[in-house]
Amino acid sequence: MKATAVAPANIAFIKYWGQKNPKINLPFNNSISMNLSKCFTVTSCDFSPKYLKDEIFFEGKKIKENQEFFIKIVKHLNQVRKLAKSNFKAKVISANSFPSDAGIASSAAGFAALTLAASQALGLNLTQKELSVLARLGSGSACRSIPDGFVEWKKGKNHKSSYARSLAPDSWWEISDIVAIVTNKKKKYSSSFGHLLAPTSPYFKKGLNLLPQRIKKVKKAIKNKNLELLGQIIEEEALDLHIIAMSSNPPLFYWEGKTLEIIKKVREWRKKGLPAYFTIDAGPSVHIICEQKYEKIINKKIRGLPGVLKTIINHPAPGAEIKK
Ligand code: DP6
Repeated sequence: MKATAVAPANIAFIKYWGQKNPKINLPFNNSISMNLSKCFTVTSCDFSPKYLKDEIFFEGKKIKENQEFFIKIVKHLNQVRKLAKSNFKAKVISANSFPSDAGIASSAAGFAALTLAASQALGLNLTQKELSVLARLGSGSACRSIPDGFVEWKKGKNHKSSYARSLAPDSWWEISDIVAIVTNKKKKYSSSFGHLLAPTSPYFKKGLNLLPQRIKKVKKAIKNKNLELLGQIIEEEALDLHIIAMSSNPPLFYWEGKTLEIIKKVREWRKKGLPAYFTIDAGPSVHIICEQKYEKIINKKIRGLPGVLKTIINHPAPGAEIKK
């Protein structure tokens, strides 16, 4: 009863920020993302009657049972066990290809991989929709790491109707997401805290009203491979997420000074004719979106900026898969 799965992180073009029902990670709005080829989690789950308790190893280290991370994973394993009507304990071994908590949604990749590996190991033959629904319970954005390529999460009305599906496969559009990492520190506040506070911002409702138009435009941009249109909307979305976070009560500041420096540079380069656009999730790292033919030159420029520790060049990627 063992399976190994690999799942990508994803970068949100239309952001998920705020939860209608925090107990089951039900969002206020639909969101759209792209899976990332170089930021992924590999997780293996082994269920056996010989295990007396769950054991979790992350990046080679055994996780203590009182840690929040351990508790979240066991809670998710329990969801899968409930579906499979099993009470076997598990040994879970997991590792990321990228630094955790650097503004790349590590829990998206983590819970997508865990959902697929655990359900497969327990012999559940779930559809992609069922996997996405289940992954969502672990971490909202994880439901978008199940389908391939460019993905939309339909907010739905209840647990079973809130899941993601693919808008286009990873081979559809040759674009890159260059992640500029500016700190190695763990982020100060979790996304869950941000979701909880979002509705306290005076700009939250206003943001929601803008979304139907933005979603239409992002879908059109993906369909027509129109980077200029995509770029315009993702920058508006990223800024609005942080406007909402910074005006929540209490306010949340995810940016570092270097974050703003990179934003300014990207806009400067664009004025000079280099087509690059930025987006930012709940962290200080900046994701620079461009066509693959420009990725080398843009990557070189980003790496030359003071304070950029590292970059990761991603292409669109398939969703969660079983590793044979
Ligand atoms: C800002 O609750 O899915 O990335 O569980 O911490 O990965 P984690 O986050 P989650 O919220 C993600 C929020 C976001 C925007 C997005 O991915 O849509």
